[in-house]
Amino acid sequence: MSDIRFDDRVAIVTGAGGGLGRSHAMLLASRGAKVVVNDLGGSVDGSGAGSAAADKVVDEIKAAGGEAVANYDSVNSEDGAANIVKTALDAFGRVDIIVNNAGILRDVTFHKMSKEQWDSVLSVHLEGTMLVTRAAWPVMREAGYGRIVNTTSAAGLYGNFGQANYAAAKLGIVGLSRTLAHEGAKYNIRTNVISPVAKSRMTEGILPPPVLDQLKPEYVSALVAYLASEEFESTGQVYAVGAGYVSRVAVVEGKGARLEPADAAAPEAVRSHWEAVSDLSEAKPYKNAMEAAGATLES
Ligand code: NAI
Repeated sequence: MSDIRFDDRVAIVTGAGGGLGRSHAMLLASRGAKVVVNDLGGSVDGSGAGSAAADKVVDEIKAAGGEAVANYDSVNSEDGAANIVKTALDAFGRVDIIVNNAGILRDVTFHKMSKEQWDSVLSVHLEGTMLVTRAAWPVMREAGYGRIVNTTSAAGLYGNFGQANYAAAKLGIVGLSRTLAHEGAKYNIRTNVISPVAKSRMTEGILPPPVLDQLKPEYVSALVAYLASEEFESTGQVYAVGAGYVSRVAVVEGKGARLEPADAAAPEAVRSHWEAVSDLSEAKPYKNAMEAAGATLES
């Protein structure tokens, strides 16, 4: 089997000044991609800004013989997102790959969550992913090629105490990605999603050190590179990844219960079928909303 390479490909990695983004950028660059290393350079909660984080990763890539340019724009500003894409076009003339990775945390229990804490997290993760992708979308459509890798989280897929804002943003990214998968299909734009677990400043202090040591960011980047490669044809999929574990994740729907039309408007009839309603033993994922809606009409 041949190596996975990105020669002549141009990648944008957001939030690449540290943690997972740095690791993704380093791997893509080591396999021949020209990389825009975007990072606002703030703290975990998104406060502050600076050029040092992105510059350092660009220097590391260059020292290893790769090609990269830095960009310091915020992903959740419309002008910033446009400038991230412009940076790629000005420096390298194309955009083939976007890894939407930038993120912040403002963890707080729901009853104490301010609107600002909600808005800021939704904005960086969900709006940032949308804005950077939207800025590159016409370029990718025109080229008839694109590989987009977005970043969700187990908190979004399954929920997590103290992370209502983050969870909502992260599952929003899944819905966005699955729709982009449909809209990009005929332009050979593939959009997939990772749900990582890795050692970074986000998880240091949450997970114990022996566990963190098994969670090398490089393990996550290996999946990102495969999803970003020309040979990867699937789209709209979600993959959990970390510590060498990689697995597809899906929203599935059970076989369900079929109530008689005469009973179906009665809450007691719904209650009497609850075992079948809850049974996931024959559950399956659907390709799109129409297919799922159609299943409700099948006998
Ligand atoms: P990190 O804090 O090291 O990296 C996030 C990067 O995004 C930082 O370098 C930060 O400066 C940058 N950033 C923040 N706001 C930005 C903005 N508005 N514009 C541009 N850059 C911005 O954290 P980590 O762990 O590397 O996280 C990367 C992604 O993976 C995030 O989306 C995170 O939610 C996600 N994730 C990480 C997990 C983990 O186990 N580390 C678990 C699940 C998801």
